[in-house]
Amino acid sequence: MCGIFAYTGKGTKDAGKVLLHGLTALEYRGYDSAGIYTPESGSIKTPGAVAELKKKVPKKFNGKSGIAHLRWATHGEPTKINAHPHSDCQGELWIVHNGIIENFKELKEKLVKAGHTFVSESDTEVFAHLVEEHMKKTKDFEKAAIAALKEIRGTYGMAIQYKGEPEKLIAARMGSPIVLGVGKHEHFIASDASPILPHTKKVVFLEDGEIAVITPETHTVYKLEGSRVTRAPEEIEWSAEEAQKGGHEHFMLKEIMEGAEVIENTLRGRLIPEKGLAKLGGLEGVTKKLAKIDRIIIVACGTAYYAGLVGEYMLEEHAGIPVEVELGSEFRYRKPVINEKTIVLAISQSGETLDTLEAIREGKRRGALTLGIVNTVGSTIARETDAGVYNHAGPEIGVASTKAFVSQLVALALLTIFLGRQRGMSLVEGKKIAKELKALPAKVQKIFEEKGAIEKLARKYSGARDFLFIGRKYSYPVAFEGALKLKEISYIHAEGCGAGEMKHGPLAMIDEKFPTVALAPSDSVYEKVFSAIQQIKARRGPVIALATEGNREVEKIADDVLYIPETLEMLTPILSVIPLQLFAYYFARNKGYNVDRPRNLAKSVTVE
Ligand code: G6P
Repeated sequence: MCGIFAYTGKGTKDAGKVLLHGLTALEYRGYDSAGIYTPESGSIKTPGAVAELKKKVPKKFNGKSGIAHLRWATHGEPTKINAHPHSDCQGELWIVHNGIIENFKELKEKLVKAGHTFVSESDTEVFAHLVEEHMKKTKDFEKAAIAALKEIRGTYGMAIQYKGEPEKLIAARMGSPIVLGVGKHEHFIASDASPILPHTKKVVFLEDGEIAVITPETHTVYKLEGSRVTRAPEEIEWSAEEAQKGGHEHFMLKEIMEGAEVIENTLRGRLIPEKGLAKLGGLEGVTKKLAKIDRIIIVACGTAYYAGLVGEYMLEEHAGIPVEVELGSEFRYRKPVINEKTIVLAISQSGETLDTLEAIREGKRRGALTLGIVNTVGSTIARETDAGVYNHAGPEIGVASTKAFVSQLVALALLTIFLGRQRGMSLVEGKKIAKELKALPAKVQKIFEEKGAIEKLARKYSGARDFLFIGRKYSYPVAFEGALKLKEISYIHAEGCGAGEMKHGPLAMIDEKFPTVALAPSDSVYEKVFSAIQQIKARRGPVIALATEGNREVEKIADDVLYIPETLEMLTPILSVIPLQLFAYYFARNKGYNVDRPRNLAKSVTVE
């Protein structure tokens, strides 16, 4: 996720100021680098957040129109050179882009052969050169932009400006949001409405496959294939803050609701379903070494640690590699037995968690191959590991991790296919997992239809002071993650427990005031979990069961049931965690707590 903002006006407002102000509203969307361009004053780019850019932009940065960008890095390190806006060879065409151009490598090769010179590693720069190439033939900015858009594959929300026609800006949307702002003698393009709202409340939301052309006085929307779209502007009454949250009350809810998109983004370009293979570019350099390793130690903290536990089950069952999972804080002070056939794999959203980082450093000192599953491009863990897989989940603002967990599980499933197919995993099995991964976004979307029911349930149980979460096999780590979500944002006692372990202690706590959330999908251990539910009911404990659609049996015994669609056993956690995230969210929101910033906790823990 990046933030883009573009402006064209009659000159009554200074475009430089309008753009910088707008970027501040978009700041939550990316803080790796920032950049601005106006045809009159040129471009300024810098690593870091908007504040850095503000320091570098001189007072006299004039212009009537321009484009600006905040980057959340995906392709290429977060350096000045990779910062947007990107331009063509002549510095005449300028682009800001949110998304990923999947076929940028092929296009780049073609363009290099045609004589184009590239300065960055960014996929976006390719697009600027592609428009330039088409301009040579068509001599028409709009036609060239459309021809270039037809050649790219991937996702984009972008704004394009041509120095030769400075008043005109082109916007395009495919998978990444674009909002047009319709003002008096001025128009805007942005990733969300927040930077537009101080100027106008009239907006037009673009849909996938649409492009828009704006000038100070006009805006025109087309479909990429050419037909005209007539859509009257809507008036929005959101505050700028609500607009940042996509109209949701909190970032946490917005991030949970991004689940389906996050799965798509983590998978994008990485599956070859017909061959049952995973293509992980970040591991290409170590493919041979990976074929020889005989053990994996996953190190992580918090939510990422629970993702690691799911990964252990996936990798052992389907790739046949022995796996251990350790908390970073434990691993770094032990004397772990490691050799050059060991992988130490860090899982970290921020890529900065000190205990995880130190665990990686310890692994390296002891000769292991170090890998990372990291969301933040260019973070310390990403830089210090030998190779890795980026999540591409976009920035996560809510302190309680939600979409990053979903993405970590998807990345672990990809790694399981990758390593499994190097070993004993059959083509049939590889294909089966790949096919089911592709089906997940639609299934996640189906869970969101139950949002209202989950909200009601959170209200029904709002008086409880304690919760037990139970699960077995793949649902065991999810039970711990469900409990962690609840305690970290609603400050009540919640504990996770293996459904089989309950009888060794936790069952003693159960009475009619102590509810249990039981993860009971229809998998290989369903009957065992069902009997754990019976044991709880025998002690009059209330039970909320999470079951697979179509299971009527569990309704007879549990007090309440939430359903998830059916999937492969190893992928069930990707679905089952979502109702638990929503339950925790509504539970805490009902209490009136600041769910995005729970007391005493931090998003990135860079201290011991
Ligand atoms: C903090 C956050 C958690 C996160 C954990 C690990 O405790 O509040 O949400 O799971 O750190 O962070 P990482 O960035 O390494 O995934």
